[in-house]
Amino acid sequence: MAFRAHILGAAAGGGLPQWNCGCGNCRRAREGSIPAQTQSSLAVTGNGRDWAILNASPDIRAQLAATPVLHPTGQRELPLTSVLVTNGDIDHVAGLLTLREMQPFTLFATDGIHQVLTDNPIFDALNASVVVRETIALNTPFALAPDLTATLFAVPGKVPLYLEGETVETDLMGEQTVGVDLQSGTARAVYIPGCAHLPADLASRLDGADIVFFDGTLWRDDEMQITGVGTKTGKRMGHMSMSGSDGSIAAFAPLNIGQKVFVHMNNTNPVLDPSSPEYAKATASGWIVGQDGLEITP
Ligand code: MLT
Ligand code: MN
Ligand code: ZN
Repeated sequence: MAFRAHILGAAAGGGLPQWNCGCGNCRRAREGSIPAQTQSSLAVTGNGRDWAILNASPDIRAQLAATPVLHPTGQRELPLTSVLVTNGDIDHVAGLLTLREMQPFTLFATDGIHQVLTDNPIFDALNASVVVRETIALNTPFALAPDLTATLFAVPGKVPLYLEGETVETDLMGEQTVGVDLQSGTARAVYIPGCAHLPADLASRLDGADIVFFDGTLWRDDEMQITGVGTKTGKRMGHMSMSGSDGSIAAFAPLNIGQKVFVHMNNTNPVLDPSSPEYAKATASGWIVGQDGLEITP
């Protein structure tokens, strides 16, 4: 069997609904009139048997419980080979603490992201004799799981919020924020849950891919302000928005991509409401709006 991706969580940090948020989407999700979504994570396989998890969200316990292909197959056997984190953000690493029950897997990240984890001794809960941390250099292919090769590459982003200093560069290129190129047989998928903007060389990397999972945090840059939940812009958070002339929908329009899938949606994003005009616009532009449990094959 060939490449498959399973969206474990389609929402950005906070999830939908977010515990302290009373915005329209969060209220509708609590009422059950739009689907709730858990936090950012994608499971991938190259053979239908051995899986890797890209980003370990704080919701990983419930996500695994809801995903039969990742259930134990024996007393302590799990079809999980590895976990890879694409940045040090809380929504992508806090779930590692849930994975601490002496379960062997390989933890892949760049040196820069591993450094963030080693600087936080709470992650020593992952016993080093069981969970092997492997450092991956940028632009160097490695075996993420059987029949699945991955390559990490830098995308514009920033350091995690909890490591921000007085001045913050929001479109830093380096080891702090990466995308993942996935190759299995002839299938190629790319996963980029956070991206500040789309430089030309990144656009050409995406051109021709069978599937791209891309940062869908906000619909518009001032969305937190207009929904009344905060003052930060998308740009300040290191995320490009979906709409507008400098948005992802416009930037991807000239590219030849089999399936374009938005992931990592903030709970304020109107596309999370399937009856919204923004949802209609995104899908009419050829995008799939990611949902928890959605499985994508090339
Ligand atoms: C982000 O994607 O911008 C971060 O996950 C925000 C956060 O740390 O809550
Ligand atoms: Mn995030
Ligand atoms: Zn909300």
